[in-house]
Amino acid sequence: MNRFSATILCLLTLAITIGSSVWSQDAGSKATVVPEGTADEGLIEPTADDPQGPLGETVRLGETLVTETSSHPMTQPLVGNALNCTSCHLDAGRHPKAASFVGVAAAYPAYSPRESAVITLEERIAHCFLRSQNGSRPAPGGKVSVAIAAYITWLSRHTPIDMNPIAPLGPNRLELLDADAIKPDVARGEALYGDRCADCHLADGSGSGEGPPLWGEQSFNDGAGLSKVLKMASWLKVAMPPDDADLTEQQAFDIAAFVNSHPRPEFRPERNDPQ
Ligand code: HEC
Ligand code: HEC
Repeated sequence: MNRFSATILCLLTLAITIGSSVWSQDAGSKATVVPEGTADEGLIEPTADDPQGPLGETVRLGETLVTETSSHPMTQPLVGNALNCTSCHLDAGRHPKAASFVGVAAAYPAYSPRESAVITLEERIAHCFLRSQNGSRPAPGGKVSVAIAAYITWLSRHTPIDMNPIAPLGPNRLELLDADAIKPDVARGEALYGDRCADCHLADGSGSGEGPPLWGEQSFNDGAGLSKVLKMASWLKVAMPPDDADLTEQQAFDIAAFVNSHPRPEFRPERNDPQ
């Protein structure tokens, strides 16, 4: 067992001990953001549901980093675009359908056909840094990686450990639509995009204060899950527009095909992950 696995095991054991005795609430409540200057790392404020002591601080640092990934001084150097983890893992990773973090730790280590390897949760987090954040790998066992893994592990404390027999994904993974049943139409997608998306993400996809970039240099790279039309359509179906995710399956595919018909950064292992 390496140092990281040992750390997580300790955190998990501590989390389970604390969680079962005092905090048995569901992971659904949303934490609030501390006003500037109240804590060294700008940590989010603890809620009654949070663990205390060093575990609590680590978990809250993890939650802070996933919501402020592109701007926080600890993660900003590792990020190559304008996105945060929670641009896609909505509601700080607690959204029940949009690529939820809840329960994810219980499915790792997991076999990954993409790498022909058994990967840890820490490794899976690195993949999103490399592809979805078009950035670079946080040091394994380093503060960033441990804090984010601790946060996801904390969100997974009520989920029994179980191997996912299909893919290296947790039990609340995105539900994929049926790609065989629907033929996407880019022209229809363009019209729908103008109607339903451009207000926030802008007509040229470059993003605004109301919504992050969808293509171009500040977006995820072509190795990311959302660069595939099926995954993008499945995510849009449950996630966009925010608070009103009412696209039909056909509309979700049309818009996904339109969004992904634009250029985005290239995933180049030698540049993104020189090891
Ligand atoms: C551009 C969108 C996007 C961004 C940004 C992003 N991710 Fe992901 N991530 C995804 C998608 C899509 C999946 C696959 C989800 C699925 O199929 O259920 C995924 C999967 C994951 C998984 C595995 C989930 C599981 O069920 O096993 C983890 C862990 C993860 N991401 C962590 C992160 C972290 C940490 C960050 C920030 C450093 C991040 N992601 C940024 C889109 C994104
Ligand atoms: C009211 C504004 C708004 C509308 C309308 C909207 N979005 Fe978003 N979108 C957001 C916000 C905000 C986020 C980031 C979520 C967060 O940070 O909580 C986001 C995130 C995303 C993401 C993942 C992050 C990224 O930038 O790649 C995609 C993809 C996306 N939206 C596509 C769409 C599409 C397609 C539509 C039209 C069907 C749409 N959105 C409509 C505000 C909006």
